[in-house]
Amino acid sequence: MAAKVIAISNQKGGVGKTTTAINLAASLAASERRTLLIDMDPQANAGSGLGVLETETSQDMYHVLVDETPIKDIIFHSDLDYLHVAPSSQELVAAEVELVSVIGREARLVEALESVRNNYDYIIIDCPPALGVLTVNALTASQGMIIPLQTEYYALEGLGQLMKTVDLIQRRLNCDLKVEGILLTMFDQRNNLCHEVESDVRKSFGDQVFQIKIPRNIRLAEAPSFGKPCLLYDAASKGALSYLELARVLTSRHNAEDKKSDIKSLTKNELSSTVHDPLSDQIPIQANHGQRKTKTPNSQAEIPQVT
Ligand SMILES: Nc1ncnc2c1ncn2[C@@H]1O[C@H](COP(=O)(O)OP(=O)(O)OP(=O)(O)O)[C@@H](O)[C@H]1O
Ligand SMILES: [Mg+2]
Repeated sequence: MAAKVIAISNQKGGVGKTTTAINLAASLAASERRTLLIDMDPQANAGSGLGVLETETSQDMYHVLVDETPIKDIIFHSDLDYLHVAPSSQELVAAEVELVSVIGREARLVEALESVRNNYDYIIIDCPPALGVLTVNALTASQGMIIPLQTEYYALEGLGQLMKTVDLIQRRLNCDLKVEGILLTMFDQRNNLCHEVESDVRKSFGDQVFQIKIPRNIRLAEAPSFGKPCLLYDAASKGALSYLELARVLTSRHNAEDKKSDIKSLTKNELSSTVHDPLSDQIPIQANHGQRKTKTPNSQAEIPQVT
């Protein structure tokens, strides 16, 4: 089955997009989902947060989007067997300008992902804090979108504009795009303002808001300076555990959706002689233990295959 592509997006800066992208991707990989994290932000924090330094990369997402370099040529392994990274660099700023006159510029990422879609279960995209061509590419390539929202006074500011952009992309470019949920981040249990903001957001967006909240947790802020996701830095921390829970919520939701669509296609094909067992899609992927990956760009990336 082709990968489920999920963009982590909010044009507001510093709301926890990169922290969510890194730690959700790592949590999915820890539960043996073959995962690719794509850094679509010229700040390149998602790559560096997983230990991929800009100085180590000769090609990155800029080359994929502008020069049509195959994405498999820029993929790095991470410290987790099931997690790969497609890094970015400051050069990506230029892509915004260079793609302006290119026909079909919104679909550059969709095309780039074609060749690797079947190698992964999840592709997570870290978006920049802007609604320019890079974010539009990410949302055009995604089936799902998570909107991190920092629980602070101006949390809802700009959300209307983001929802309008999503609506436009759904109508014009990608009818499959769906908001997976709004994720409250940096939640401080002892701060009354956080509770007020939570109640406002839930009043406005109802069950579009994930029940799970990401707590303010120092371990989440420290881990990137060690080039590690939080679960490899302090697995027992509240930060690591909350992203593991988010990954669990998403995977069980997607398993249920896949089962439903399998059953639908089964009833559509009543006359077909082939009997398809929907549960056969639930066979777990065999672990690929013991192979420590090196941090070199890898055109034949050893992507664990479904067995
Ligand atoms: N749950 C959390 N607890 C504590 N610190 C956090 C948490 N989430 C994020 N941070 C910190 O807040 C800052 C902003 O987070 P992050 O970089 O993930 O936001 P962003 O939305 O990706 O920012 P940008 O818009 O600049 O890309 C970082 O220093 C990060 O370490
Ligand atoms: Mg970021």
